[in-house]
Amino acid sequence: MNKILTELEARRGVARMGGGQNRIDAQHAKGKLTARERVDLLLDDDSFEEFDMFKAHRCVDFGMDEQQFPGDGVVTGWGTINGRMIYVYSQDFTVFGGSLSETHAEKICKIMDMAMQNGAPVIGLNDSGGARIQEGVASLAGYAEVFQRNVMASGVVPQISVIMGPCAGGAVYSPAMTDFIFMVKDSSYMFVTGPDVVKTVTNEIVTAEELGGASTHTKKSSVADGAFENDVIALTEVRRLIDFLPLNNRQKPPVRPFFDDPSRVEASLDTLIPQNPNQPYDMKELILKVSDESDFYEIQEDFAKNILTGFIRMEGSTVGVVANQPTVLAGCLDIDASRKAARFVRFCDAFEIPILTLVDVPGFLPGTSQEFGGVIKHGAKLLFAYGEATVPKVTVITRKAYGGAYDVMASKHLRGDFNYAWPTAEIAVMGAKGATEIIHRAALNNQEKITQHTADYEERFANPFIAAEKGFIDEVIIPGSTRRRVCRAFASLRGKSLKNPWKKHDNIPL
Ligand code: HXC
Repeated sequence: MNKILTELEARRGVARMGGGQNRIDAQHAKGKLTARERVDLLLDDDSFEEFDMFKAHRCVDFGMDEQQFPGDGVVTGWGTINGRMIYVYSQDFTVFGGSLSETHAEKICKIMDMAMQNGAPVIGLNDSGGARIQEGVASLAGYAEVFQRNVMASGVVPQISVIMGPCAGGAVYSPAMTDFIFMVKDSSYMFVTGPDVVKTVTNEIVTAEELGGASTHTKKSSVADGAFENDVIALTEVRRLIDFLPLNNRQKPPVRPFFDDPSRVEASLDTLIPQNPNQPYDMKELILKVSDESDFYEIQEDFAKNILTGFIRMEGSTVGVVANQPTVLAGCLDIDASRKAARFVRFCDAFEIPILTLVDVPGFLPGTSQEFGGVIKHGAKLLFAYGEATVPKVTVITRKAYGGAYDVMASKHLRGDFNYAWPTAEIAVMGAKGATEIIHRAALNNQEKITQHTADYEERFANPFIAAEKGFIDEVIIPGSTRRRVCRAFASLRGKSLKNPWKKHDNIPL
């Protein structure tokens, strides 16, 4: 027996060394952790249960039969994050550059199938040179098996991808179908075709970092949802995110102990809105002041900053927040903001996370670039997402809610459950000046008259009361009481049950 145990330990020792000490040293020299070090940091201490540690590839071409590394370049299994179960795979760059073989794919598929069956999130730590070149089509088939599972798991269990090294070719499409993508600054990149191919085809000279680094994908393309300084911070942030999420679509979001009075009154909010209606203010201040312990987990912080998206807790329960940000483009909706918020709203709805919408929106951004870029379809994504969402929806209009953007931002008409307005709210088809210039065009040359008409329009519409008279606003609330009102609203909606009509699936404008 002792001999067998010794052999098992020896075999485990070999598997744990991945591609060997030299390659581990090379990985560390690049500022990257190894696949196993990453799993250890991601999971609670001693919680990791590994599968397929000895799985070996079946390739015999190109001398591969003489190169075997137990585990075949990916560490897979399950463990816990703050006591809650998750499945994980972590690609091992020290083994054939973390490239994906048929068997490597089988290991990933196994944990994805188990995650779906047992209702737990999948976290993928990606560090791979793509398809295992020696295996040809068998490797492509392996990728497609993973892709199919990404599709089936979407909306069933949360899927999170962390890009911690190269991610090229078709390999980017598995992360692309997951719910959140995080990247590590300076050591990770994602692209469909690398700089060399780009140069050959389009004559553009570009570095890997410029083409697909963390900055590009968090600021320009919006492929990634966040970028972090190094492996340790990235993995810590994934743990923080998981704490906000339900484990699957059959569960309610987690409720955590909280140490913040749900009735807390914030008198400072009574003066948040500046006297001048065109002066911006920071909507983040409101988010932080309504949330438990001012804890806001922002998603896509560096993209479309005119809208804020992320998770907070109220009375310990997760709430998704969507908020116009008046400090950027006056908080208007444009193509990028609509896409960003629509995807976030759909994630929340898929996983039963209630949505708080904070509105200060002067409308959609005008211009040829927006129209040529298809703002009609992109704006409709957000409209569609809110309209189909059946989770509890609470909306607070702080200042402007003009035009189509009023309708879009979780209005009463899109089945908002509680629609509150601050006394400073202005709910109208458009701003007073623009409205006057259209309906009093004949008086355009008479500045005095225009000023008077503008003041009349403001007097009539620059307030929440017309909408409140019609029942589109449930209550005009004192800003300082927002946390108390919203907490009570969500508490009253815990038993909400609303179903959309049966359909195979909808046809959201893409
Ligand atoms: C087999 C690979 C590999 C791959 C890297 N290696 N990529 N082995 N298949 N795809 C091996 C290398 O041969 C090397 O082995 C070791 O991993 C480390 O690679 P290096 O090149 O030394 O590392 P580095 O300089 O850091 O460069 C990393 C890299 C580069 C940028 C990822 O290796 C690279 O460009 N690889 C090829 C990428 C690629 O074209 N993949 C196919 C994409 S197409 P030794 O033994 O020398 O240390 C694709 C299709 C999928 O993925 C489609 C799905 C739909």
